[in-house]
Amino acid sequence: MRVLIIGSGGREHALALSISLSEHVEQVFCCPGNPGISQIAQCSPIEINDFAGLSEFARQNKIDLTVVGPDEPLSEGIVDYFEERGLKIFGPSKDAAKLEWSKYFAKEFMLRRGIPSAKYAAFDRREHAIAYSYSRKLPIVIKADGLAKGKGVAVVNTYDAAIGAINACFDGKFGEAGKLVIVEDFLTGFEASVFAVCDGENYALLPTAQDYKRLLDHDKGPNTGGMGAISPNPAMTPEILKKIEIQILQPTLKGMKEEGKPYKGFLYLGLMVDDKKEPHVVEFNSRLGDPETQAVLPLLECDLFEVIWQASEGDLGYFKGVLPSAETSGLGASVCVIMASEGYPEKVADGMPIRFKVGLSLGENSQLVDSSGDIDPEEAKVILFQAGTKLDKNRNLITAGGRVLSVAALAGNIKMAIQSAYKAVNKIDFAGKQNRSDIGK
Ligand code: AMP
Ligand code: GLY
Repeated sequence: MRVLIIGSGGREHALALSISLSEHVEQVFCCPGNPGISQIAQCSPIEINDFAGLSEFARQNKIDLTVVGPDEPLSEGIVDYFEERGLKIFGPSKDAAKLEWSKYFAKEFMLRRGIPSAKYAAFDRREHAIAYSYSRKLPIVIKADGLAKGKGVAVVNTYDAAIGAINACFDGKFGEAGKLVIVEDFLTGFEASVFAVCDGENYALLPTAQDYKRLLDHDKGPNTGGMGAISPNPAMTPEILKKIEIQILQPTLKGMKEEGKPYKGFLYLGLMVDDKKEPHVVEFNSRLGDPETQAVLPLLECDLFEVIWQASEGDLGYFKGVLPSAETSGLGASVCVIMASEGYPEKVADGMPIRFKVGLSLGENSQLVDSSGDIDPEEAKVILFQAGTKLDKNRNLITAGGRVLSVAALAGNIKMAIQSAYKAVNKIDFAGKQNRSDIGK
């Protein structure tokens, strides 16, 4: 099979690696990709929103299946576009991806279907949103309805801050995405990310994860796309996971199908589990998480491509339920640490040379090899996933974006994984690098 992956981040690098290891896959392509992905896939500089260019590429290269990484092309209907042209693609249709691109739709859907989530109200008039906010107990959560690159959510502790967040939406900070505003009660508990591969009716579960959204240690600083992740989520139990399946995942897939939007593709459940161990949906995403994917996929002990292929055919068959992984066998744990550019998550300076300390090198399948013996290959497998990188004219690796590298380590337990990941992080350098030092700790 010939597989095309759309995207250029760490998540797409992890997808490309897992898919390239399948015995069914002859060649992987990626648009636009990055220097890391280009070591395992043939990359072509076609942008993710150039549907005509991408579908032409898929046709010319006889692609058997296209897999979409990021939310943007999904919300703009890339799946519908490919399918209308007879091209096979894995992801939700524009209608089904509405679970992510309209928080209002998602909230109303959950209410209709009895899926547990925070109490809320939605407003298209600022005065009404502000008045409602005063009626709720602090803290509260203000959300722009549409996609806002992860920045459309404000958790506020004062009514003044709530007014500020509401005004930001109605004053156009998030463009069209902020014309409708959700005011939501604050949920407490622990956060978990659960990923499902869906075939329109059934699902297969990937290992669970926890991501670290704040920039700085001890969950301080601004929200980011994610500064690290661990898998499995240490607070998750089989009992809680069962509740998530029965109370959330099953009614979501049943509801979407009944409402004429059958959900095919990766589904990401952002969850809060309260102190009574009851799960609630914080958000749905129509894709895999970044950086959770970089921690989750290396743990999988089955052929990811086969799972995706079955789902895209509309029948997961024997993959239904929890997929076999190091998590299920109780042996494995993984961690992913993001190395970001100076200035991230705001404006960043690109073009910083990325250097490895003596002894560290890149081996096969994006694995890091340490000849100094500091990182013991018997103890941990360390993988370098690239995101905001490019090659300069002398073919040296330089930074090109906010989140630059994801260092993922897989080991027998989380402690060993953390140690190995940080040993590698400390051997990689670029000017202004930022990383949290407490991922998983
Ligand atoms: P979202 O973009 O919807 O994932 O929101 C970003 C982050 O805000 C989440 O990961 C949570 O940490 C937090 N958040 C969003 N909604 C709520 C809520 N209702 N209660 C508590 N925290 C929330
Ligand atoms: N890590 C959070 C996200 O991908 O949305």
